Amino acid sequence: MSGLLTSTLAHRLRPRLWLLILVAVEMSGLTVLSAGELSPVEQLGKQLFFDTNLSSPPGQSCASCHAPEVGFTGPDSAINESTSVYPGAAPERFGNRKPPTVAYASFSPKLTYNAHDAVYVGGQFWDGRVDDLVEQAKGPFLNPLEMNNASAAEVVDKVRNADYRALFDRVYGSQTLAGSDATRAFDQIARAIAAYERSREVNSFDSKYDLYLAGRVQLTDAEARGLKLFAGRANCTSCHPHERRADGSPPLFTNFTYVNVGVPQNTSNPFYQAPRTVNAEGAQFRDLGLGNVLQDVSQNGKVKVPTLRNVAKKPDPEFVKAFLHNGHFKSLKEVVHFYNIRNSRPDDFGDPDVAENVNRDELGNLGLTDTEEDDVVAFLETLSDGYTAEKSEPRVPVIPASVQTTDRKDRFRSAREVIRVSRFRGVIPGTTSGQR
Ligand code: HEC
Ligand code: HEC
Repeated sequence: MSGLLTSTLAHRLRPRLWLLILVAVEMSGLTVLSAGELSPVEQLGKQLFFDTNLSSPPGQSCASCHAPEVGFTGPDSAINESTSVYPGAAPERFGNRKPPTVAYASFSPKLTYNAHDAVYVGGQFWDGRVDDLVEQAKGPFLNPLEMNNASAAEVVDKVRNADYRALFDRVYGSQTLAGSDATRAFDQIARAIAAYERSREVNSFDSKYDLYLAGRVQLTDAEARGLKLFAGRANCTSCHPHERRADGSPPLFTNFTYVNVGVPQNTSNPFYQAPRTVNAEGAQFRDLGLGNVLQDVSQNGKVKVPTLRNVAKKPDPEFVKAFLHNGHFKSLKEVVHFYNIRNSRPDDFGDPDVAENVNRDELGNLGLTDTEEDDVVAFLETLSDGYTAEKSEPRVPVIPASVQTTDRKDRFRSAREVIRVSRFRGVIPGTTSGQR
């Protein structure tokens, strides 16, 4: 079924289906569909991940910048299309990068130097500045450019008064929240979030490509041609591996190394206008990525290779996503085109944000035709999780009842999501989530 037809149909059916589901849910006495396969600590992590009370002022959760229906990245089409950078809970404050996906982030090892290949591998964030998800999860709560709480104690206090407190007590014992050790409680909050981020729900390995690898579906001609290019002439796989890993587990589409692909400056990034206390360099700011973290000019401009899983995932065909760490490109076609001809036609694009260390050997001159670019994009579209052969709409994770809201920032909790949730299916047998 064509995308347009799907969306038209969905549009017509949506209001009635919503009503039906609400009635069904009311009658069944459930507040919302159960979280199914999540363990208690993962369920707790999920409540925390979606809780918009945990920011100051309230209104922003982790999911405001990492929402399931867009593959756990930024859920606001208008923002993606314009600045690509999400405002914090205090709306006049902005970070300087596009939210990467949280899905599959747990597979990134700690940042280490691989002397054999002379490359850095692993870490969290675009620049690898944090080692793991637990450490990472504490950051946004206290970051003034994100959720803006004054202290760990402030976050803990909010959780103490949350309606999922009983679940917290069940997971960690009632002592922590009852006591006064905010450091310990804050650590447990971060651990629970990390557990959710590592869960099967967030890392479901059930894209069309996974089903193809399992021999359960065929690719279309365009997708198959795209795969062949991806693995061959277009050379994508040298940084975004597409084959099963050594232990037989499904590919992650990243090798977690660091590369400067030479993306032009995103001139609409509001960070350039941020107060000097936040951005001392103003319009001269260059995102040095790993080079800044290591204070090593030989790494300037390099950022972590992101997974391509869910890179095409969006709630409807008109929805705009932003790509690369500064969100400069607005479609996959543009990204592939850039990779294809950057070396030969640099004037078609802006200058690289960071001129040093641009990788010119592995990308920039691929010799693809326009149709071949489209084929590569068609292949990227097979990497969206929640694929079901019979149903055209992918599933998204169940949203906790206690955080259902019509808040603008939390569009994914719409009726439409509830409908999709009702189609929730089990994970694909035979896939494993690998290292934990
Ligand atoms: C205002 C938007 C915003 C909010 C709110 C937010 N994030 Fe992020 N997140 C980002 C951005 C932007 C980055 C990339 C920052 C960078 O690389 O410097 C990021 C990076 C991450 C990463 C690293 C992924 C990777 O592959 O390196 C994880 C994990 C993550 N966030 C989890 C969370 C969690 C958990 C919360 C809630 C406690 C949260 N985020 C709240 C915007 C946000
Ligand atoms: C030499 C390593 C390398 C090769 C080869 C490579 N990529 Fe990438 N890719 C990266 C890095 C690094 C980034 C992030 C760059 C940035 O944000 O500035 C990236 C980002 C992307 C993104 C954006 C993802 C997001 O979440 O914003 C897409 C899409 C992508 N690559 C597709 C491809 C395709 C398709 C090919 C083959 C035509 C390819 N890549 C080849 C390293 C590589």
